[in-house]
Amino acid sequence: MSRSAHPAGPRHADVLPEGHYAAPPADLNHLDPRIWSRTVTRNDDGAAQVGGLDVRALAQEYGTPAYVMDEQDFRARCRAWRSAFGDGADVFYAGKAFLSRAVVRWLHEEGLNLDVCSGTELAVALDAGMPAERIALHGNNKSAAEIERAVGAGVGRIVLDSFQEIDRVADAARRHGVRQRVQIRVTVGVEAHTHEFIATAHEDQKFGLSLADGQAAEAVRRVLARGSLELAGIHSHIGSQIFDMAGFEVAARRVVGLLAAVRDEHGLELPEIDLGGGLGIAYTPDDDPWEPQDIAKALGDIVTRECEAAGLRPPRLSVEPGRAIVGPTAFTLYEVGTTKELPGLRTYVSVDGGMSDNIRTALYDAEYCVALVSRTSDAEPMLSRVVGKHCESGDIVVKDAFLPADLAPGDLLAVPATGAYCRSMASNYNHALRPPVIAVADGRARVIVRRETEDDLLRLDVG
Ligand code: LLP
Repeated sequence: MSRSAHPAGPRHADVLPEGHYAAPPADLNHLDPRIWSRTVTRNDDGAAQVGGLDVRALAQEYGTPAYVMDEQDFRARCRAWRSAFGDGADVFYAGKAFLSRAVVRWLHEEGLNLDVCSGTELAVALDAGMPAERIALHGNNKSAAEIERAVGAGVGRIVLDSFQEIDRVADAARRHGVRQRVQIRVTVGVEAHTHEFIATAHEDQKFGLSLADGQAAEAVRRVLARGSLELAGIHSHIGSQIFDMAGFEVAARRVVGLLAAVRDEHGLELPEIDLGGGLGIAYTPDDDPWEPQDIAKALGDIVTRECEAAGLRPPRLSVEPGRAIVGPTAFTLYEVGTTKELPGLRTYVSVDGGMSDNIRTALYDAEYCVALVSRTSDAEPMLSRVVGKHCESGDIVVKDAFLPADLAPGDLLAVPATGAYCRSMASNYNHALRPPVIAVADGRARVIVRRETEDDLLRLDVG
């Protein structure tokens, strides 16, 4: 199984040797349902459609670039996670992957909870009507204002990430006259990579309190000493775009180990554990993600087994998928502007967006697919690199792709699986206007995040 796209860094040389590329796909016009959202198909005349709408009409109406989000697919993924984990567990959608009012409403309607990692994500969640008790707040350096806001709103859970924060949250809760439910985020000594997990002796990163060096156990003592805090459980998040359950297995074992140690030291069985997010999705046909029911079963089995071994009642489990829910639900629609053929090498295909709407390729060497979606073509496959319009040669959207050789300016391309960490990490580089998010369902489209305008940018520029 090959995996793509991980923050751990490049896994390919910058220039791949001749012959390294996989053969072109048998059918360039095929939109692989393992990668595209579930309502994407081709019309009789060859253009792609999503939610019953022709992409050419969407481009005409809303312009390009645009993120096109398949609401039915989003809801179906929420339901799949919800039913896989059942009533005995909680699914917190990780809002950092993509958050908007509409998404919050969909989550609420589908019975998911929400994990936010800033005061402003919290503001969006509350504004859109997510009940505060179904929200968890994360972050390794929450500001005093963020803590104040979360405690004041009555969020269901604050995940504590440092000793200083224990005191800050305890003080805020005391001022508000409440007992704040908290979890302690621990680092379990597992470094999850895209390809594998590596058990590390040290935990050289900014998040969490170490199990190995005793800081996690000390955090438990300090939280239990603060009457304004209710210690609900232990939290672990091992990484992102993970395909190997072994990392979760080690994490679960070590978290349960801490629960047992807490019981032995304090005579207390903590009722919750959260194993975070991080489940991988298919960006290319080589990626082979787990289904929610298999993940739920695997995690449930691990926790049950470890608890039995430790003589503990199994705690309530929660998970925090972000990418696995929203990632596959959207594609980015671009128009081809120029092409430049380098004989014997590749053709550069420039689109009207780039690293400002998808930084993941430049930042993580992420791999994506791309397809011509405004028509089909029987032309020869052409080794291509899809690039943006920014003033930077690293402005690459899809590094290696085969596109039909008759590709021309005005054609529409779509890059699938851009629902997670693309709009949420978009920038105004070169004063690019961040693209809209268009939700489609049942033959109707609506803007859920509008395109930025020149006015938006000029309004911030108050010099
Ligand atoms: N829970 C916690 C505490 C997290 O830190 C994260 C992601 C998640 C859940 C959700 O992880 P997911 O299921 O989406 O993998 N910008 C990077 C990903 C950074 C993820 C940060 N934390 C990317 O574009 O790949």
